[in-house]
Amino acid sequence: MTYHEQNRENYLETLKAFLRIPSISTLPEHKDDVRRAAEFAANELRNAGLDNVELIEGKGNPLVYGEWLGAKRKPTLLFYGHYDVQPAEPLEEWKSPPFEPEVRDGNIYARGACDDKGQVLILIKAVEGWLKTVGKLPCNVKFLLEGEEEVGGEHIESYVQSKPPRLKADAAVISDTEMFAPDLPTICVGLRGIVYTELHVQGADHDLHSGVYGGVAPNPIQAIAEILTALKNREGHIMIPGFYDRVQPPSEKEKEAWSRLPFDVEEYRKKEIGSRDLTGESGYTVFERTWARPTLEVHGIRGGFTGEGAKTVIPARAVAKISMRLVADQRPEEAFEQFKAAVAKACPLGVTAEVKLIHGARPSLVNPDNRFVHAAAEALQQVFGKKTVYIRSGGSIPIVGVFERSLGIPSVLMGFGLPDDNLHAPNEKFNLSNFYRGIEAVSQFLEIVGR
Ligand code: BES
Ligand code: ZN
Repeated sequence: MTYHEQNRENYLETLKAFLRIPSISTLPEHKDDVRRAAEFAANELRNAGLDNVELIEGKGNPLVYGEWLGAKRKPTLLFYGHYDVQPAEPLEEWKSPPFEPEVRDGNIYARGACDDKGQVLILIKAVEGWLKTVGKLPCNVKFLLEGEEEVGGEHIESYVQSKPPRLKADAAVISDTEMFAPDLPTICVGLRGIVYTELHVQGADHDLHSGVYGGVAPNPIQAIAEILTALKNREGHIMIPGFYDRVQPPSEKEKEAWSRLPFDVEEYRKKEIGSRDLTGESGYTVFERTWARPTLEVHGIRGGFTGEGAKTVIPARAVAKISMRLVADQRPEEAFEQFKAAVAKACPLGVTAEVKLIHGARPSLVNPDNRFVHAAAEALQQVFGKKTVYIRSGGSIPIVGVFERSLGIPSVLMGFGLPDDNLHAPNEKFNLSNFYRGIEAVSQFLEIVGR
C-alpha cells in the first residue's frame, strides 16, 4: 500500500475538520472562523513537512505561506488555493448542515467541500506524500493560500503586485476548477473576469401607503426592474454602449475542439440547470455563452416588504446586487464606467440611482503550450486513464491574471470538481474518488515537472 492509500481515512478526517470551520469571507461575524481556517491550513502545511510556514498579515484576511526549496536547479511551482467559502444560505435546502460534513454515496457534502478546501488539501497531501516517503520533492514548491477569493481577492492582489522575492516561481498551480465530465481529466485554459456592483435606488424620502400615494409616488423596486431590462434585453444581449467592443471571439480551432467535447444540450438543461429552457444570446453555443461571452446577472434585490402576508407599501429605497462576467480583453474598470453611464441613462423619473463597485477582476486566458501544462495533462492522463481535454470556464479566479501580469508566470488550472458539485449552492459536494485521484495526479505532476 502506498502512503496515500494508507492514509485515506486520515485525509478524510482532516478534510472534515477543515470543512467544519465556517470560514465565510463575506460575513464580518465569521472573521474569527476565517482566521481559524488560515491557521488550520498553516498547520497542515507544517505537518506536511514544508518550511518557513507562516501567516502573512496585512489589511485583509491572512495569506498562508509555506515552501520547500531543496531541489537544486529544478523548476519552482507556486501552489495557490483559497480557504474561504461562500455563505451557505438558503440553509433549509441542505440535506445535511453545511458545516457538518457528511459522506453519502462516495461524496462529501459541506460548504467548501469542492470550492476550495477539498482541492487545497489535494495540493497539500500530494506534497506530504513525497516528503513523508521519499523525504524530498522532485521540484521546488511554494504555497500561497488566501482567505478572500470569494470576495474578490483584493489583498492578495496587491501583495502579489508588490512582487515579493519569495513568490518567484516558474508556474502557478491551481486546483479550483471543474472537470468537464466525471472521469474526464480536464485542464482549464480560460476564466471570465467580473465586475460586482450594487445599485442603490432612492425614491420618496420615506415609505408610503400604496393606496394613498400609489399613482404619484416613484417606486424604487419598479425602477430597478426598469433599469435591469434596459441593461439586458430579452435575447440576453447586453445593451450597455461599448460593452462588447473589446470582446475577442475564440479561435476556430478552439471552437472546433469544444465541438468535440462529449455534450448533450438537453441532458445539460435537465440535469445541470433544471429549467424548462436555456436562455441567452442566440447564435452562440452553450460553451460560447458560458465561456466566451460576457454576461450581466442580478443576484438579489432588497427592499420593500418580503415577509409573510401582505403589506401595502411603496418603499422609499431598494438595492440590487448586479455583476457582469467579462471575457478577454474586457477591463473591469472600463466595464464599470460603461455600466454606470448606462444606469444613469436608464434611471426613471422620480428616483436617484447610485452605483457602487464591490470588486473587479480581469478575465484570463492561459496559453497551454508550456511544459507545465503538458506535464499536468500527462499526469492527469496517467491517473484517470483518458486523454486530457482543454476547456474554459465561466467562473472567475482573480489571481490568475495577476500571476500572469505581475509575476510573468502561467497558471496550470488542474481542477477536480464535477459539474454537479453545487458550487455556491446548497448541498455542495466533492467526489471522494476525485479527491484521492487528485492527490495521485498532483503527486505524479510533481515527478514529471522534476524530470
Ligand atoms: N472556484 C471558483 C471559480 C470556478 C468555478 C472556476 C467553477 C471554474 C469552475 C471560485 O472560487 C469562485 O467562485 N470565484 C468567484 C470569484 C469572484 C467572487 C471574484 C466567482 O467566480 O464567482
Ligand atoms: Zn473557489
